Amino acid sequence: MSSISIVDTMSVFNGRVAIITGGASGIGRALAEALAREGAEVVLADLRGERALEVAAEIVKSGGRARGAALDVCDAAAFAALVAATVAESGRLDYLFNNAGIAITGEARDMTLDDWNRVLAVNLHGVVHGVAAAYPVMIAQKSGHIVNTASLAGLTAHPGLVAYAASKHAVVGLSTSLRAEAADLGVRVSVVCPGLIDTPIITDSRFVNLDREGVLADLPFAALPAAECAQAILRGVRRNRPVIVVTWVAKLTWLLQRLLPSRLTAWIARAVHRRVRRHRRVAT
Ligand SMILES: NC(=O)c1ccc[n+]([C@@H]2O[C@H](COP(=O)([O-])OP(=O)(O)OC[C@H]3O[C@@H](n4cnc5c(N)ncnc54)[C@H](O)[C@@H]3O)[C@@H](O)[C@H]2O)c1
Repeated sequence: MSSISIVDTMSVFNGRVAIITGGASGIGRALAEALAREGAEVVLADLRGERALEVAAEIVKSGGRARGAALDVCDAAAFAALVAATVAESGRLDYLFNNAGIAITGEARDMTLDDWNRVLAVNLHGVVHGVAAAYPVMIAQKSGHIVNTASLAGLTAHPGLVAYAASKHAVVGLSTSLRAEAADLGVRVSVVCPGLIDTPIITDSRFVNLDREGVLADLPFAALPAAECAQAILRGVRRNRPVIVVTWVAKLTWLLQRLLPSRLTAWIARAVHRRVRRHRRVAT
């Protein structure tokens, strides 16, 4: 991370307090670094608490204001305690980035019920727990912005990622609905839908009955660097966009989804998945 000794005092994020879940890695880390550069006080909350502390220490070393915390977003009480501790320490909470997430890649027929439940617990219930903890604080303040990370898989069909797509579609519905409810209470809600971003989720997440190297080698597009994704997200947050779609491929895919007949988009998804299925380990 570059030095942030000269903070952008003109930024809307300057002096604001933000919690970022999944802040120890990838998009969350890039968001924390970018927000700190713009003068925000950031709380990096992650299942890997040690790593969150290390990343926060690096931000502090380069001139930013940051704290790290261990948090499992599946633990509603722990999430509420983190929000309460942040408000006690910083006096307010301006942004909650519900960014923590996991992916399990593989066909639905190869997933165990545990795989389904784990994906829904982190990606959906983790967001629900964040909203339950932070929304009342923001209503009381009459201000605040909840930014939930879904995915392009929350807007379009993603065979090979059915549980993940289910969790991310739910996060899109939660966010657009809550946005309409929250607006008159002074609280903003946005949902982030990135395409392929270059983070450890691509290389380290679980693949079930699929040859990871084969699938990754077949990806038709290059992944966007996390820092560029973070900039695009913050641009959308500044403008209070309801749905922040990141990468041109994701924008084009979402546009086609809305323009083309659903039979055609379903056919395209099926054809794309046939390429992934070639890397399935179990005989079909
Ligand atoms: N990278 C992509 O291509 C991409 C595309 C679309 C959406 N997303 C979404 O972006 C978000 C960030 O992912 P990333 O790509 O930066 O991946 P990442 O693996 O680099 O970061 C995810 C972070 O979440 C943390 N985490 C996982 N489970 C947690 C839990 N139960 N409690 C708290 N923290 C937990 C991990 O420790 C990790 O630090 C996720 O919601 C992901 O689904 C990523």
